[in-house]
Amino acid sequence: RRSRLRVSDCFATYLISQNHIKEGAVLTKYVIRGGKPLYGEIDISGAKNAAVAIIPATLLVQGCCRIENVPDISDVHILLDILKQMGASVCQRSHDTVEIDCTNVGDMEPDPTLVRSIRASYYLIGAQLGRFGRSRVALPGGCNFAPRPIDQHVKGFLALGAEVEETDAYVDARAREEGLQGGRVNLDVVSVGATINIIIASVLVPGQTVIENAAKEPHIVDLANFLNTMGAKISGAGTDVIKIRGVKALRGGAYSIIPDQIEAGTYMAAVAAVGGNVLIKNVIPKHMDCISAKLREMGARVIEYDDAIRVQKVRRLRRATVKTMPYPGFPTDMQGQIGVCMTLAEGVSRITESIYETRFFAYCEELRSMGAKIQVSGKTAAITGWEELHGATVKAHDLRAGAALVIAGLAAQGETFVENIHYIERGYENLIGKLTALGAHIQRVED
Ligand code: EPZ
Repeated sequence: RRSRLRVSDCFATYLISQNHIKEGAVLTKYVIRGGKPLYGEIDISGAKNAAVAIIPATLLVQGCCRIENVPDISDVHILLDILKQMGASVCQRSHDTVEIDCTNVGDMEPDPTLVRSIRASYYLIGAQLGRFGRSRVALPGGCNFAPRPIDQHVKGFLALGAEVEETDAYVDARAREEGLQGGRVNLDVVSVGATINIIIASVLVPGQTVIENAAKEPHIVDLANFLNTMGAKISGAGTDVIKIRGVKALRGGAYSIIPDQIEAGTYMAAVAAVGGNVLIKNVIPKHMDCISAKLREMGARVIEYDDAIRVQKVRRLRRATVKTMPYPGFPTDMQGQIGVCMTLAEGVSRITESIYETRFFAYCEELRSMGAKIQVSGKTAAITGWEELHGATVKAHDLRAGAALVIAGLAAQGETFVENIHYIERGYENLIGKLTALGAHIQRVED
């Protein structure tokens, strides 16, 4: 099977516009020769979902922000391109350090093609509203594994006194005549994106803003720490009540992004599924608690150090039950990866998805073509473990589903071709290099 670019896909349009690929080109794919256990050490990169919040938040800062431990992934490149196009000075100091100075950025509309190619571009709404009192941003794109409304973001902007108009293609937000003022917002659902966007929008707004029923993910704490380093007054990040006292201005400074919880979890699941013994370095073990506990329950050996975790497969995995939940629960972004572990475990495992019900469709069919026994009914998947998977040609339908297929390919007998890898490269830095260093047979090839 050959996968031709769909030019309607905004991300593909972006890749073409940047000369990364040619129009009508056949997409590159991963070819994996599976069945080889993983041994060695790898370093985890900076957290994607922290980076994609912190980069737009630099719009609020007068002066230069030096950001370290930035992951080298396409979502980050696109956001940096958006800021450059808006007039920011962006200087890549090393492969993981970037300096961003948005002092001279005006309130222009960010390039809609770039904005539509990723999800996190919706943070530009909060950033522009907070800095200029008005914003016009195209509706974001990104991984569309489920309907992803932004009503809770809007609820927050309204609480600050903004007027918001949402059409099919754009969000227009502007302060009323009297200007924005701190407010109180109680989120109807625990939303990472809304929590981040409201924090960003309110940092420069006079008075106190309170977010109740806030999300508690590590990248929310990281964003708050970044903004506080630049002079903001945010307290309570990491709890479900976050308070932001508006300040007059933020100044430049340096900040290092936390390690990526989901990248680390993906490699942990890979070792548990494929076999071997790997030291995963540059992690915050506390952020991994839920994933470590589940893998231990399934029979993997997981040893924590100060800033590293060793995972070893010592027996066939046991069945397990997983329910995805907001942090500190089991992350929905690890659903597919743990699902692959379950396809190889003894007995019948169950996953209940409580955040994005339709997420199973992104990978279950593909795993079935590799021999997995999965039955999906509403929010629950029942996975009957089998002795082995076999290689097949499969398509990544989103970032994490793609990561799950890579793990399945590494565990399978024979060759697996993973297509649509541009989704995977949104969020995994140097996946091929890291897996190859662990002894995997995986290559990125052009048809
Ligand atoms: C973030 O998406 C992550 N993306 C996602 O990571 C992750 O899957 C998700 O959080 C859940 O952890 C980024 O950080 C850029 P939400 P986000 O708002 O913020 C509902 C990855 O692969 N909701 O926490 O868009 C929503 O439908 C990805 O790295 C509303 O109803 O997710 C969902 O059911 C993909 N109204 C729930 O809340 C809203 O206004 C949680 O969504 C917002 C959300």
